[in-house]
Amino acid sequence: MRTPATVLALVTAGGVAAALALPASAAPQAPPDRTGPPPVGHELPKVPVMTGGGGAVASVDPVASQVGIDVLRRGGNAADAAVATAAAVAAVEPYSSGIGGGGFFVHYDARSKKVTTIDGRETAPATFHEKVFLRSDGTPMDFNTVVNSGLSVGVPGTPATWEAALRSHGTMSLNRVLKPAEEIARKGFVVDETFHQDTLDNATRFALFPATAAIYLPGGSPVPVGGIQRNPDLAKAYRELRTHGTKALYTGRMGRDLVKEVRNPSTAPGVTVPKGQLTTADVAAYTVRRKAPTHSEHKGFDVYGMDTPSSGGIAVSQILNLLESFEQRTGRTVKELSEAEYLHWFSEASAMAFADRNRWVGDVPGVPTRELTSQAFADERACLFDPNRAQLRPIPFGSPDGSYAACSRGGTTRLPHDGQSTTSLTVADRWGDVVTYTLTIEQYGGSGIVVPGWGFLLNNELTDFNFAPLAPGVPDPNLPGPGKRPRSSMAPSIVLKGGKPYLTAGSPGGATIITTVAQVVAGVVDRGLPVGDAVAVPRLSSRNGTEEAEDAIFTTAIGAELRAKGHVLRQRPVIGNATAIRSLSPSRWTAAAEPVRRGGGSAMVVHPR
Ligand code: GLY
Repeated sequence: MRTPATVLALVTAGGVAAALALPASAAPQAPPDRTGPPPVGHELPKVPVMTGGGGAVASVDPVASQVGIDVLRRGGNAADAAVATAAAVAAVEPYSSGIGGGGFFVHYDARSKKVTTIDGRETAPATFHEKVFLRSDGTPMDFNTVVNSGLSVGVPGTPATWEAALRSHGTMSLNRVLKPAEEIARKGFVVDETFHQDTLDNATRFALFPATAAIYLPGGSPVPVGGIQRNPDLAKAYRELRTHGTKALYTGRMGRDLVKEVRNPSTAPGVTVPKGQLTTADVAAYTVRRKAPTHSEHKGFDVYGMDTPSSGGIAVSQILNLLESFEQRTGRTVKELSEAEYLHWFSEASAMAFADRNRWVGDVPGVPTRELTSQAFADERACLFDPNRAQLRPIPFGSPDGSYAACSRGGTTRLPHDGQSTTSLTVADRWGDVVTYTLTIEQYGGSGIVVPGWGFLLNNELTDFNFAPLAPGVPDPNLPGPGKRPRSSMAPSIVLKGGKPYLTAGSPGGATIITTVAQVVAGVVDRGLPVGDAVAVPRLSSRNGTEEAEDAIFTTAIGAELRAKGHVLRQRPVIGNATAIRSLSPSRWTAAAEPVRRGGGSAMVVHPR
């Protein structure tokens, strides 16, 4: 959320806005206050690639990765470490994920050789319907007005995911694995440039909600770089979950306070925001869902991902299948292409996958997952591909109907809204299990609403629904509905070779998650890159209309070559922030995290060697 000006319209009286409507660069920087107990892990270095044994963790933050490594060292397995790391990330990067959000957990069990998933996506209230985000004249509500409101908040699924993951795959209790996160929230962490900038970017909307401002704008401005961000209320929330279990949220006092806040958000004087519709019955009814993962074969690898309500697993598989189809049609391999040729292929495959995702994928019955992820469907879709010329956008969607002789084309839809957000972590343990877990509260800072007394931000995940159908006369699978889960792009993915883990990957980044994860997998599997390079390379995100490129593509000969083929590029400074683990043997891994983007992430192994 880098455009705070858009939320100024919500402030009806001058006071709050006047105090914080400064351009980010003009905000005053108070000297860091380093009084009180020392913060957790503030000396830890950020290392983007590490190889070794004993288990591995990659996340966006060294304090969080260290929490996971400590769990592995003390005998915990990948699921234990993943939950502990996720809870710690939610304490040190609270604008990306947390108790108030949801996510998708994908697990490989070495004993059974099975990949399973947990869908902990946020859920709409029972009162929701297709027109809930339309005004009385039938036009969609203003997007940012809904973001910063109770109406955007779905029932959180993250605590239920943690509990389910530990029950199904873990060896440690919730009480134990949440302890480090509680300590981080209580003692605090040292604020870095990225967190400080994220707070500045959100300052105007955080000021709308006094409980949020009290934590993240103490004394009226963000904690400066080098200062300590503490959150005793969040420590209390972790303690409540540790000691009472997740029923504290789903049927207990934390949940009652959450519902009260969503239905009637506490705002600054003179500020009004739309109220939400969640009830205690909605919260009590929440359950994680367990679905078979998506699966496709790609050049002798088995690619597993998250099925609906995420579009991530389907779209990543489809992109990889399309690359394979393009190889068949041209007689060339992805590996032998120049960077610009490869990015042209990748862009065309991604745009086609997004055309199909927007038409066919959502939390509705009958999504043709198997057809969309089949090589036969990709082979038919590939008839539109020209190795020398970009297709006109938007590319029509296809017909995943099982009959693939002709080159069929459907209609087109306009693009749904997509933002940047979320966090991703990957873990491997010494028994051979791996986990990839992507979790979110939707935008950086979610709805901007902290539940008073409990210190966690509420999601704005329900803005991932389409507010209105994307095209007249074309069914839209992602309209709001009662108890429905908004479509996601989260794409935690596990790639097996010969039934054993080869690559585990995930990324934040809204709809760009799909293209980032596909680029990481294709980077390792098709292009033969080391995993650290596959995470680091410049990115292109082509989503059937929007085609964004990082500077190292946009401003170079590669960008020029793409433009010459008809690509219309838009500059985007940062796309994704991936984590990945390449399994080198059953007891040796290379963990990889982002080296630069958003200040860099943290890859660790238990025994570096
Ligand atoms: N809110 C980001 C996603 O689910 O894709």
